[in-house]
Amino acid sequence: MVFNSSIRYVNRRLTVDQIDIASIIAEVGTPAYIYSRRRIRENFHRLERAFAPLSARLHFSVKANGNLDILRALNEIGAGFDCVSGGEIYRALKAGAKARDIVFAGVGKTRDELVYAITSGVGWINAENLGELDHIDTIAAELGAEPVKVALRLNPEVTAQTHPYMATGHGAAKFGLAADVIRDVLSRPARYPRIDFAGLHMHIGSQLGDMRATLAAVDKLVALIQDYPRIKTINLGGGLPVVYRFDEKTPSPDGLAAALARRLRGYDVLLEPGRAIVADAGLLVAEALYVKRQAGQSFVVVDASMAELIRPALYGAHHEIVVLRQAAGETETTQVVGPVCESADVLGRDRQLPTLEAGDKVALMTAGAYGMTMASNYNARPRPVEVLVDGDRWWVSRRRETFDDLVRYELLTDPQANQKDPLPGPNQC
Ligand code: LLP
Repeated sequence: MVFNSSIRYVNRRLTVDQIDIASIIAEVGTPAYIYSRRRIRENFHRLERAFAPLSARLHFSVKANGNLDILRALNEIGAGFDCVSGGEIYRALKAGAKARDIVFAGVGKTRDELVYAITSGVGWINAENLGELDHIDTIAAELGAEPVKVALRLNPEVTAQTHPYMATGHGAAKFGLAADVIRDVLSRPARYPRIDFAGLHMHIGSQLGDMRATLAAVDKLVALIQDYPRIKTINLGGGLPVVYRFDEKTPSPDGLAAALARRLRGYDVLLEPGRAIVADAGLLVAEALYVKRQAGQSFVVVDASMAELIRPALYGAHHEIVVLRQAAGETETTQVVGPVCESADVLGRDRQLPTLEAGDKVALMTAGAYGMTMASNYNARPRPVEVLVDGDRWWVSRRRETFDDLVRYELLTDPQANQKDPLPGPNQC
């Protein structure tokens, strides 16, 4: 069975590129995130080709996966980065990104984060509050910086067909600015002498299976931008969908690109894809700890949980679950659950799986996006190791956290001295 160009069964063993996953797990243990760097590059190039008719510049959305090796790999093949915090900007810069290739977005940037972004020289700030514009203008003046390039984020008042937690473009959402507010700002740009209002931004949601909402939003954005011929850049955000269920189909980006190209002739276009670049390149491997037959059900308790992968608990998201070693034999309806003390800690409901025993390993598929970045230490669980594979090589990219890591920040200060943690300076935000 072939899942994609990098992940498949070879001789009944689940492999990433040329590597048998079980051989990695024998060394690094479980739970473990494993990513194919080759697949990530391929996904990036596929999107680049699809959006070539728009000459779109792709800024990888770091919130989907902030692993430094992955950011480095994307930087090397020409990606820019979409960052939503000082921490993400720091990560992108650490990975070698040029500041001018970073767009800084987010509904609640702190003043410190804005100082950090402007001092670093990020290429764009996607702004979505009037107070934020005041901050940007004042900071740039204080620093004697060049005018800062800003893309105002439009809330197009369009509801995307996706999980309600992932829809951001409807009028009631906290995101973006209403069209009339944007018009008001653009009618008097001299109010902000240190801001160059050079672009408009939008992002109506994530995992967008139906492009009609996107096109409706783009039409509103184009109607708005036409009155401001100085604005030449349109940033359409992210949202391209991926396949989570093996029997599911998602529209290819080519149709969307063609429809966009007709609407956006003459503009510089930026995109901020996250999921579509990393999701299907990654999986989370877990080991079955116990099998419990109870209340007419078969529970398999694995050593991964909602702490390592929160998507099923948070969005009711579906991640396919497969075994590392295929074997002939019976299958049964299985509840795959984690060890965390929450009823929501179910990774897969009613899955038809081979009869599992303690010690068997399973992989949660399509976990490369919003997996590790949303992982927590809930129940004082150290976060998992991250492994990268590329062809016939693999390496530990981020080591598994230890118990010491869990208490690290609390052991820094001497309680007798009643020290206060120093506030982070601008370069540490
Ligand atoms: N740009 C902006 C302004 C965004 O808010 C997002 C995602 C992206 C780009 C990237 O979207 P993508 O291409 O990955 O769909 N945690 C959720 C997804 C939340 C997405 C938030 N914003 C999940 O696990 O599905």
